[in-house]
Amino acid sequence: MVNYKELGLVNSREMFKKAIDGKYAIAAFNFNNMEQMQAIVQAAVETKSPVILQVSSGARKYANQTLLRYMAQGAVEYAKELGMEKPQIVLHLDHGDTFELCKSCIDMGFSSVMIDGSHHSYEDNIALTKKVVEYAHQFDVTVEGELGVLAGVEDEVSAEHHTYTRPEEVVDFVSRTGVDSLAISIGTSHGANKFTPAQCTRDANGILIPPPLRFDILEEVEKQIPGFPIVLHGSSSVPQDLVAIINKYGGAMKDSIGIPEEQLRKAATSAVCKINIDSDGRIAMTAAIREFFANEPSKFDPRQYLGPARESLKKLYMHKIVSVLGSADKA
Ligand code: G3H
Ligand code: 13P
Ligand code: ZN
Repeated sequence: MVNYKELGLVNSREMFKKAIDGKYAIAAFNFNNMEQMQAIVQAAVETKSPVILQVSSGARKYANQTLLRYMAQGAVEYAKELGMEKPQIVLHLDHGDTFELCKSCIDMGFSSVMIDGSHHSYEDNIALTKKVVEYAHQFDVTVEGELGVLAGVEDEVSAEHHTYTRPEEVVDFVSRTGVDSLAISIGTSHGANKFTPAQCTRDANGILIPPPLRFDILEEVEKQIPGFPIVLHGSSSVPQDLVAIINKYGGAMKDSIGIPEEQLRKAATSAVCKINIDSDGRIAMTAAIREFFANEPSKFDPRQYLGPARESLKKLYMHKIVSVLGSADKA
């Protein structure tokens, strides 16, 4: 059993309070390997931003949970080495689906966990979430719950259709579970194909414009639980220039559409204080690697293609922090 405080990590409580008061949001970036983790830390240090390192169960299976935990501990030391006096880094379990998984993460040094009971019935979601909160709070670990279902893949759980969060349920859910933050469904979804072309309109240049997020639901939720930390999953914007690079160099990403950055910028000024971004990082890495291989077919040293991929990731993360979420200079 190791407590995250011994590792130099922080939970999300203070971070979220400051983000709501300051009208910005904290980025939660998923990581599965060293290059992603390095890019996240470099971006956070260079922008002087707090950051959330997210680990999904898929990441735990891919990279080994013990290694990821030590990498997060290493992230704190790395941030200090890069010049950040007091790194504000949360290690968060993304889409935990059982009490046992959450407990295992808490016991091995995570400072925050998500228990995603959104696919269960309302009462079962409450019972499961409450059980995780009761365990987590003994160790000052913060807990994110979810109400409403996002379309797309959520780890092993995939939903074809979304269900918007029902604002009339949030007071009851938050008070009965004791969660520290709440993920809601207002039209975002996981992956690189968030909308079908049929759901979009086209601008004068033929570019697909997705339907706007349901800010009316967000406002209603805020009215019900004023000042309570809200989380947005599925918030990649699917940069079209990067998708074009992937397709130019042999990729086949079709009808890839994300959430426009202006909408995330607007959400960040509300009680939304954590914004989850994974797919955009995957796209940035893939574009850089495909371009490298197309131009340098004789090269085979992984450092030669993972290096530019890491640079491209870092650039993307810095852009998100500075120009979309607004958390630069807040650490
Ligand atoms: O919500 C899903 C995240 O993008 C994590 O994806 O389960 O493939 O690691 P993953
Ligand atoms: P994206 O697929 O939009 O990056 O969402 C990531 C996410 O919500 C992780 O929990
Ligand atoms: Zn998610």
